[in-house]
This record gives sequence, C-alpha cells and structure tokens, in this order.
Amino acid sequence: MPLDIVVGTQWGDEGKGRVVDLLAEGSNYTARYNGGDNAGHTVTVGNQSFRLHLLPSGMIHPQSVGVIGNGVAINPAVLLAEMESLISAGLPVTPQRLHISHAATVITPAHRALDAAQETARGKVKLGTTLRGIGPAYTDKVARTGLRVGLMREPENFGQAIREHVIRVNHNLVQLYRAEPLDPDAVAQEYIAYARQLKEYIGDASSLLWEALKHGKRILAEGAQGTLLDLDHGTYPYVTSSSTIAAGALTGLGLGVGCVERVIGVTKAFQTRVGSGPFPTEVVGEVELHLRGTGEHPWDEFGTTTGRPRRVGWLDMVLLRYAARINGLTELAVTKLDILSGLKTIHLCTAYRSAGQLYTELPHGPADLESYSPVYEELPGWEQEIRSVRGWEDLPGRARAYILRIEELSGVPVRLVSVGPERDQVVEIN
Ligand code: GDP
Ligand code: IMO
Ligand code: MG
Repeated sequence: MPLDIVVGTQWGDEGKGRVVDLLAEGSNYTARYNGGDNAGHTVTVGNQSFRLHLLPSGMIHPQSVGVIGNGVAINPAVLLAEMESLISAGLPVTPQRLHISHAATVITPAHRALDAAQETARGKVKLGTTLRGIGPAYTDKVARTGLRVGLMREPENFGQAIREHVIRVNHNLVQLYRAEPLDPDAVAQEYIAYARQLKEYIGDASSLLWEALKHGKRILAEGAQGTLLDLDHGTYPYVTSSSTIAAGALTGLGLGVGCVERVIGVTKAFQTRVGSGPFPTEVVGEVELHLRGTGEHPWDEFGTTTGRPRRVGWLDMVLLRYAARINGLTELAVTKLDILSGLKTIHLCTAYRSAGQLYTELPHGPADLESYSPVYEELPGWEQEIRSVRGWEDLPGRARAYILRIEELSGVPVRLVSVGPERDQVVEIN
C-alpha cells in the first residue's frame, strides 16, 4: 500500500520540507508523525518562502490534505498562527483540509517554562533544546499525565484540565527550579479559546488514513528532526523526545507495517547540527565558513526555529550507513550539493579510529561517539556553480563522482539531488 516516508538521516535540517514539497505533488495526504514546533521546514516556491513548524509541508499543494498524527506534540498558539499564515498566502485551511489526531499531545506555556528551567539547571551540560516545551510535554505523555488533543472537544472541561496541569507544573517550577509560577486561570482561559477554534479539526487520524489507503490514495509521511536525534536510536542524551525514524511514522500515525512503499532518506551533502552533542566530522575555520555561509542567503546554516548558527562538518558515511539500516531506506535524496561548489577538496568520512583500532560500523551505537575520530577519503572538488543544472549528465564529473561514492558507501541508491532551494532546482536520477 502506498505510504511513503520522508525521514532525515542526520541531526535535522536536511531539507525534508523541500523534498516533501516535491513529492507532495503526487500525494493525496501529507502527515506529520512526530515532534512539534521544534521543527522548522522551509519550502521555497518562486518568491514565496514558507517556514512551517507544525503543518505538513505538503499542504502548500492545494490538493494535498494535511494530517497531524498522534505522535506529534502541538502548541495550539503556534498551530493557529501557522494556519492563519497559510490562509493569508491564499491556501485554504478548513476541517476538510486539515485533520488533527485526538491522541496528539498538547504543549502549554507550563511545558515551555519547564523546558527553560531544566536547561538552566543543566548549566554547562545543556542539551541546547529549542525551548519549545518538547521534552516536558512528551515526559507528561509517557508519565500518563499528558493533555491529549481530544480533550479540546469539550473546551470547558479542557480548561479545567489545563488549570490542574499548570498548578501541578507550578509546584515543580517553584520547588525544584526556583522559577516563576504561571497563572493557572489565565492559561486555562487562553487554552479554552484555542479549543473553540480547533475542535472542528480533531478526529481519528489513524482511521482516516487507513480508509484513504484502502481507497488507493497516496500518503506521504513527513518526519521531523533526524535519525541521530531519535530518542532511542540517536546520540542520547543529546536527542529530542520523540521517535524521529521511519518506524515512528507507523506508531505516530497509527498505521500498520505493511503499508510502507518507499522510505526516502534526506541527506545533506555535508553534515550539520544545532545544539549540543558529539559530531565527529565537525570542522572549524575556512571550510566551516564556506559550508555555513554568512547569513546573507536564506539557506545559510542558521536555525529556522531558533536562528542559532548551525555547527557544520563533512558528510559522515558511518552515520549514514547506520541511518540506512535503522530506517530501512529504499532511496536517498541528497540536498545542498550546490554548497560544495568551489571547495578544492571534499572529505568523506568512511570509518572511525579509536584507541588504534579502525571501525567502519559503530560498535556501541551513536550515543558513544565522543572517543571516535574520523578517517577521511579525499575527493577532488569542482568549481562550477550548479544551481541551474537539471540533468544528471550536466553535473560536473566530480560532482557525479561524489554522489556515486555516497551511493556506493551507503548501499542506497540516490534518486534525487537538490541543487538549490527552489522547487525546480533538482536533478532526478532514474
Ligand atoms: P528541514 O528541517 O529538513 O525541512 O530543513 P530546513 O528547512 O530547516 O533547512 C534546509 C534549508 O536549506 C532551507 O532553508 C531550504 O530552503 C534550503 N535548501 C534545501 N535544499 C537546498 C539545496 O539543494 N540547496 C540550497 N542552497 N538550499 C537548500
Ligand atoms: P527539523 O524538523 C535540527 C535539536 C535541538 C536540540 C535537540 C533537543 O527542522 O529538522 P528539543 O527542543 O527537541 O528538545 O531539542 O534537538 N532539534 C533540532 N535540530 N532540526 C530540528 O528539526 C530540530 N528539532 C530539535 O537543537 O539539540
Ligand atoms: Mg529544519
């Protein structure tokens, strides 16, 4: 059955939104399955640029219906603002075009305050979270004290649940973190108003998607964050609090394993990370400036959600092979190849060295990367600007050699190469 999953293979910001936008043309539904407004997905269409945090990127295509699955944590204020921004861009957002799972989790200002208080308390060993309340909201879900979106169907009762939640979190904020408490009544009133606006959108997303699949419709699942930020399989504890990998699409949407057709791993042509944690191929100096950019272009490596400069480095094939295995990738989409133009030499990390030993696979998974140093293969770079290239044969030979080497070392075919942020700046490989 035609469920395709788009998943980030690195530490997020691989260009998932951009790839989803390309694939959504042929899909009836686009569904977010994990994370919340810690995600920032940019889609560029002509002179319009959409920065989406919660709405599925496919909704930019008028025929693609958006779904927010049970695995997502939703800040209703952010969601409503985003719905407004699509409407002002001329894209309809109605209960026919957007469905929100009743089993998704609600994020409140109390979760955000707790996120900030916990980061402050961590001192030097900060995780570098996005401060969007993600960790505390998922903590509540797992502790079975979470606020489910379905509660919003009865706004007054929801208000009471919010009030009790804020009183409970206030206790922790004040007693554990010496932080300021929030006003439970004010938050409850704010959330009752959100519930009144959102209740028509809430339903059983899992059965909606199942019915769609049974009727031959195509569904695109849009991952947020990336494989190495996965709660179980990432660089723990420097991870997010949700299941970011392809399997997360099944639990996060309520669909069975047999539905999956393609698993598309989005991979930046180099590597970036925002926030703390190990990064074996990180570079500093001239190459760092080349890869990050100065901030003058919209695609330069500064966070969409937080504006923080992203850490940058060479593509790590040990980690990409790991991502291929954990996600069961059927294909790769390589983005931002254009950024490598002008580099004399390009490094690819093919293995690690630790205590005199060579490793081509991670012996203890990515949580244990601190003591590993990268072993590089060097490939000659190319001078040409490639943003206007549309055909495989028209790419410089050295750029093709780089892509073919990625294919060879990952064992996964590259089906798409992105050479710019615009919808048409893409080279498809058959
Ligand atoms: P996401 O979180 O995975 O959706 O990625 P982000 O949107 O956070 O970051 C990717 C950035 O790179 C966005 O600004 C995109 O518009 C931009 N982008 C995507 N693909 C390309 C590409 O091939 N070349 C260039 N120059 N920019 C790209
Ligand atoms: P998209 O979907 C990049 C990172 C944060 C931090 C860690 C935990 O745009 O790729 P959290 O707020 O989730 O508790 O932070 O995860 N992080 C991301 N990094 N892209 C993202 O999303 C991210 N979402 C979270 O920087 O290191
Ligand atoms: Mg992003």
